[in-house]
Amino acid sequence: MYRLIKQVGKARRGEFVTPHGIIQMPAFMNVATAGAIKGAVSALDLKELKCQVQLCNTYHLHLRPGDETVKKLGGLHAFTRWQGPILTDSGGFQVFSLAKLRNIKEEGVTFASHIDGHRIFMGPEESMRIQSNLGSTIAMAFDECMENPAEYNYARASCQRTVRWLYRCKEEHDRLNALPDTVNPKQMLWGINQGSTYEDLRIENMREIRKLDLDGYAIGGLAVGEPAEEMYRIIEAVEPEMPADKPRYLMGVGTPVNILEAVKRGVDIFDCVMPSRNARHGHAFTWEGCRNLMNAKYELDTLPLDPTCDCPACRNFSRAYIHHLFKSGEMLAMRLCVMHNIYFYNTLLERIRAALDNDQFDAFFEENVAKLGKRI
Ligand code: GUN
Ligand code: ZN
Repeated sequence: MYRLIKQVGKARRGEFVTPHGIIQMPAFMNVATAGAIKGAVSALDLKELKCQVQLCNTYHLHLRPGDETVKKLGGLHAFTRWQGPILTDSGGFQVFSLAKLRNIKEEGVTFASHIDGHRIFMGPEESMRIQSNLGSTIAMAFDECMENPAEYNYARASCQRTVRWLYRCKEEHDRLNALPDTVNPKQMLWGINQGSTYEDLRIENMREIRKLDLDGYAIGGLAVGEPAEEMYRIIEAVEPEMPADKPRYLMGVGTPVNILEAVKRGVDIFDCVMPSRNARHGHAFTWEGCRNLMNAKYELDTLPLDPTCDCPACRNFSRAYIHHLFKSGEMLAMRLCVMHNIYFYNTLLERIRAALDNDQFDAFFEENVAKLGKRI
């Protein structure tokens, strides 16, 4: 259940109650694709990193270790030892971005596994069954995520099919939740808005999917090739059509600046691989901008990654040490940098919430939007 605590312009301070805990919004979801944040970070580290909610992937966990296996092990919460909320993405995006030799039909999608090439079929019912076996807190509807730019007629036909898939998802999801041996009988279902960069398609699609009165709504199909300004324009167009009493999730976004801009336009929750992926390449987000730890200028730098940061890496280690670890190919370099970046993102969202609580969101936005976009 979503509760709006306060609204400043379009920006919303709220909370979302789930059977696995309350999510304070705006919130960031840490991406744990295969059940762990990449970079050797376990569930035991997450509380210290201010994580509220994790995202895992249907597609990856279906291929390995298999959703039936996860169910036998008691579901994702028991398996990964993370007891907070977990959202599973439906496979819709991964099938389209990772798998090869796709064939899309009304029933669903046939594709080749990116691991061993064997052919797999996934449609709305399969996606719901897998997510039910995983026992996540929130299941996402099975959708087609088009790349941008997409041709108008294709985009229209695709998002109409995604609406038909959503109806099938809802029916199967209700059926599965009612079965006696379901891992999480209270699993929620969120719908996904599509329509590429066409405002009319986005609005029509949102009006269709809100009829189902789902537990939350996502904006998908953004940050997939279009400039950031286009993404903001689409959020502005679709936001007035989104139910005010449900959380709004912008999928796969984004940079700290993207997040500030989207919160300002009414988005409540985000997920992105950037904090962990960039960290693995030596990039640390800081309140002054983004640093590249591979840079030789850090060789003798005894300051922490960010002197204002209280994360486990910054409390204990210097830039010089982390620079050396990256140069030496030590796994610890990634672990420290991933922990810092995850902490940074969760702190960013925490400060956004505090700014909303204290009626200072506009000042916070102005003060940080330019700095956070810099490379230093
Ligand atoms: N992750 C980022 N974008 C999308 C999308 O459009 N659909 C799904 N299912 N996941 C996403
Ligand atoms: Zn830090």
